[in-house]
Amino acid sequence: MSYEAVRGRVLLAGNLAGAETEVAILGLTEGDPPSGLSLELDRASGGVIARASAAGDFKGEPNETLVLYPAEGKARRLLLVGLGKAAQLNAEKIRAAAATAARRARDLGAKKAAALLFGQGTPVSAPEAGQAFAEGAILGTYQYIEYKTKDRDKVKILEHLEVYLPDEKILAEAAPAFARGERIADATNYARSLASHPGNHATPSFLAAEAEKIALAQKLGCTILDAAKMKELGMGALLGVAQGSHEPARFILLEYDCGRKDAPTVALVGKGLTFDAGGISIKPSAKMEEMKYDMCGGAAVLGVMSIIRDLEVGVNVVAAVPSTENLPGGGAYKPGDILRSFSGKTIEVQNCDAEGRLILADALSYVAQKHKPAAIIDLATLTGAVVIALGHYGAALLANDDALAGRVEEASRRSGDRLWRLPIWEEMGDHLKSDFADVKNIADGSAGGGTIAGAAFLSNFVDSTPWAHIDIAGTAWWEKDRPHLPKGPSGFGVRLLAELLRSWA
Ligand code: BES
Ligand code: MN
Ligand code: ZN
Repeated sequence: MSYEAVRGRVLLAGNLAGAETEVAILGLTEGDPPSGLSLELDRASGGVIARASAAGDFKGEPNETLVLYPAEGKARRLLLVGLGKAAQLNAEKIRAAAATAARRARDLGAKKAAALLFGQGTPVSAPEAGQAFAEGAILGTYQYIEYKTKDRDKVKILEHLEVYLPDEKILAEAAPAFARGERIADATNYARSLASHPGNHATPSFLAAEAEKIALAQKLGCTILDAAKMKELGMGALLGVAQGSHEPARFILLEYDCGRKDAPTVALVGKGLTFDAGGISIKPSAKMEEMKYDMCGGAAVLGVMSIIRDLEVGVNVVAAVPSTENLPGGGAYKPGDILRSFSGKTIEVQNCDAEGRLILADALSYVAQKHKPAAIIDLATLTGAVVIALGHYGAALLANDDALAGRVEEASRRSGDRLWRLPIWEEMGDHLKSDFADVKNIADGSAGGGTIAGAAFLSNFVDSTPWAHIDIAGTAWWEKDRPHLPKGPSGFGVRLLAELLRSWA
């Protein structure tokens, strides 16, 4: 395993007040005195929680924490975490609070912690709270240490987390959701770890090898196309981008068969650009190292495929990850070059740094033509412009089909992977006309709206298939710590796709 997160997690019925533990975690809503099992824990601890709130030292505001050392009771420490107002509690707030708590327990140096499931006695159901708690604790404790050789033994790891529920009946209700939350969060951390790998390790061949492992574990079909095969198929757009690099390109395909004959197929496409230097249209050197994360769309797609069978998805799924580097080697494609895409359409290259849309063009038309899917969803770190439009708190959704966009938005609300829809104005197509080829890969300077232009370009390659494009350039990676999104790769899209596919049928 190339990353760490809370290792053992157990959901069980019982009373936290009776648990011998290094840290007892209690989530408290704002302005409410402890009641029920929280009150029992307070009594067992000699009333220390009531005294802390009477002193005004703990209010229960979202993600507020307080560590107490009770003189009585079985817990060595009490860790109070704020959940905010009970009436406003939801899965996302529980996710965040569980992340805050698990990380704090870990940073205190504890190996074992025990919590009372957050949100008992609020409108949030036990299954919903259970899934959110598991996700938050696992996502919040993600740390990537693969390439650190010094002081490895000083890395703090939470070995074991117990989550208590009041009785066996509620346990039986919440257990499947808790387990699902674990799987989804593990898959998200896996996608994060793929993104954390540097470009010299996470090459197209490396991603292909990961896909083969996933296929074996989840019983999926797996096809890896090399350059010769892509040439034979006519994937000139992907191969054009790959020309400037010595690292061989790969086109990765995974197929999940749900077992139902009449089931529709949903296609997922993820941009797997393992390093984007910009090609001959080379990027400035400042922060260029960040462009190792240009494969986060591909990582999200591989992430969800790594649990697709466990999620009991009721539709067939085909996943495609076109993967290459974009470098300015001597053989590199150049501005003015015309590439013949898999679809047959010709593309004039006007900017070698607009390479994501080129590799996606071949992938989109390949899945549209070969798999006749009911819908295609692509995820890509496609444009810097999306950061200008929406910032880092949500990704852009652009679609040629309102019903599909609605489904994706619904999955976004449930999963917590935030989206905001942008239009694909028809007029943008005029700005993508080329004097020499069918289309060009960037819009005229006057067009503006770089994220919309990117989607408008892609729309040429999906025929009439319902299609949704998610631009994750602003959400895939951020240098700011948030509760369940520690700084670095977010794994954006794994939770969204898991929700979308699970609820498809
Ligand atoms: N991979 C980049 C987009 C990107 C930018 C991802 C910032 C993450 C953070 C993409 O290949 C790219 O270079 N896009 C260009 C498009 C332009 C040349 C039309 C961009 O956004 O500048
Ligand atoms: Mn680029
Ligand atoms: Zn790129």
